[in-house]
Amino acid sequence: MRELQRVAEFIDKEVGIQLPESKHILVEGRLRKRLRLLGYKSYKEYLDYVLVSPEGKHERLHLIDAITTNKTDFFREPEHFDYLVNMALPEIEKKRRLDGRKELHVWSAGCSSGEEAYTLSMVLHEAAEVQSGMKFNILATDISKSCLDTARSAIYPENRIAPVEMSLRKKYLLRHRDKKAALVLMGPELRAKIKFGSLNLMDKNFEVPQKMDVIFCRNVMIYFNQTVREQLVQRFEQQLVPGGYLFVGHAESLNGFKKNMEQVSPMVYRKPQ
Ligand SMILES: C[S@@+](CC[C@H](N)C(=O)[O-])C[C@H]1O[C@@H](n2cnc3c(N)ncnc32)[C@H](O)[C@@H]1O
Repeated sequence: MRELQRVAEFIDKEVGIQLPESKHILVEGRLRKRLRLLGYKSYKEYLDYVLVSPEGKHERLHLIDAITTNKTDFFREPEHFDYLVNMALPEIEKKRRLDGRKELHVWSAGCSSGEEAYTLSMVLHEAAEVQSGMKFNILATDISKSCLDTARSAIYPENRIAPVEMSLRKKYLLRHRDKKAALVLMGPELRAKIKFGSLNLMDKNFEVPQKMDVIFCRNVMIYFNQTVREQLVQRFEQQLVPGGYLFVGHAESLNGFKKNMEQVSPMVYRKPQ
């Protein structure tokens, strides 16, 4: 359908995501719901509203939401959290003290509905019990408004927490007030460490308040074209403190990219000191 070509061009330009023709049927299905909700009779009418008319500007976020893939989990790709705690943390924590900085800064870039950020909060809280004086904060950003709403609510269906060890559940997670609802609430100490925000990684001028010790950007760049990925990796490199770490998803090797970081473990990269 010609209209889907318009969607594909918009998504490529705004979000850096390629929409191959094979995905068009899927996208059509997702957009149909929006059309129905807003009362548009044709895709053309809807797209004229979203992409052309100034009033439709706020609907663009819904369009992006309908198309991006938000799959995530608590403790997804768990070896990264082991590497962070056992290998990276002792070193970056030592450096933080030498530099006289107050806290470690960690960024979950493309955090989806927040599971990655809450997992980071759990493992860093645990590490802080062993390394006395260790303090940290987590910035978690995404382009999807509905994902950020879920992340901020900190409430998840009980079956989502299956990957979380029982001892961590008991320590950090709360049962929702409504016992019949089978919902879990992230505890206050986990929430207190995380700031959620909206950020488009495609925006060349995006601003992040401070240099990061650790960046997790996993299963996000896979949808971007090679040029966008390479630029973003360079941007992450600038955003890291010397000796800082970048974690990417299992299918997002940075082989062949222009960068100064060295690979220290599968899909883990370190900026030189
Ligand atoms: C598959 S999820 C990955 C979530 C998490 N990092 C993980 O590995 O479990 C990809 C996320 O990237 C976000 N995303 C896609 N394009 C983006 C962009 N241009 N800027 C910011 N976030 C983006 C999507 O909204 C989605 O929530």
